[in-house]
Amino acid sequence: MAIAMTTGYSAQTEGALRCIEAASDWAIACVDALPQQSAYTLIDYGAADGGTAVGLWNSVLDRLHERQPQAHYTLVGNDLPSNDNLALAANVALQLSRPPSPTVLVSCRSFYEPLMAPGSVSFGFTATAMHWLSQSAGALDTHTHVQASGDAEALSRFTAQAMRDWNALLELRSKELQVGGRLLTVNLSRDEAGLYLGHNGGRTRNVHDQLHQIWREMADEGRISADHYRAATVMNFYKSPDEFMAPLKDTTSAAYRNGLRLIDQRTVYVECPYRRRWKENGDTASFASGLMATIRSWSRHSFASTAGDAAADELYGRLEKRIAAAPDEWSLDYVEHHQMMEKVAA
Ligand SMILES: C[S@@+](CC[C@H](N)C(=O)[O-])C[C@H]1O[C@@H](n2cnc3c(N)ncnc32)[C@H](O)[C@@H]1O
Repeated sequence: MAIAMTTGYSAQTEGALRCIEAASDWAIACVDALPQQSAYTLIDYGAADGGTAVGLWNSVLDRLHERQPQAHYTLVGNDLPSNDNLALAANVALQLSRPPSPTVLVSCRSFYEPLMAPGSVSFGFTATAMHWLSQSAGALDTHTHVQASGDAEALSRFTAQAMRDWNALLELRSKELQVGGRLLTVNLSRDEAGLYLGHNGGRTRNVHDQLHQIWREMADEGRISADHYRAATVMNFYKSPDEFMAPLKDTTSAAYRNGLRLIDQRTVYVECPYRRRWKENGDTASFASGLMATIRSWSRHSFASTAGDAAADELYGRLEKRIAAAPDEWSLDYVEHHQMMEKVAA
């Protein structure tokens, strides 16, 4: 399924950077557990322009190099063909100038396809990417995001698609990993209380409801057609911890049969950095434009691809005004699930 981040991704997504930082302890734990060998392959699945993960890969490569100065390292940045892959190539190349000077590669394919040779990956990492579905789970009649829709039928349709996708993803990754290799997935999720990105239990407004309200308003005013209103659906899904762990607890799943095992999991909350800064400096205009831009970075494609650029621009203009008019009622808080896995001999 074609999805795309807006250009200048890492400049607009400080929250995603904080989410990667919050997972760096487990990334180091993963590479510390790798067996001693002469060459290692590391891959970042769904890296966007790679800017948010430069620090993480610095730390991981430093750690591996310290433990094994003679080994050769290969770092692969992956994202869709529609991504800004030139920017990704430039960001992974930032690792070249310092020891251990890895080989760097870019893989411009979907992570729903086999990406690496069987048994070749030592450490696989992904952040804030695998909530995107591989294909449409169908339209929503009354909302733009399934998890805010309250539509039970749509929810079961999206859950089924999300679980097919997650099983397929883990099967693919379980083939690519070497025995003894580790996979760390850092994904947007839904916690036990039902909280997810943009829904913090009512402390501030539900961001998905706000996007939908503006979209509905534009349909009511005739700025977009009824078809555009219905077709604009954000095709992602925030899984629960049980849903993330399911293929690793099911001993008949393909990933399990290939030797993929759960080591540990946790849910981590990352508070909105834009709101925190606004609380410190009271600069409402910067808060409104920064928060709007970070929401736009992941949602714009869903609106622009169905109703066009002008309609999408109007949506985000209205969103920025809403934030500026009531800043205390806005925040984009992240709920991320970390899952550490290892491949054992099957
Ligand atoms: C929110 S960005 C996260 C980028 C980066 N990992 C981070 O944490 O800052 C999500 C990325 O996932 C990518 N993505 C979505 N579906 C994908 C797929 N099927 N294959 C590869 N990348 C995908 C998008 O293109 C986008 O760049």
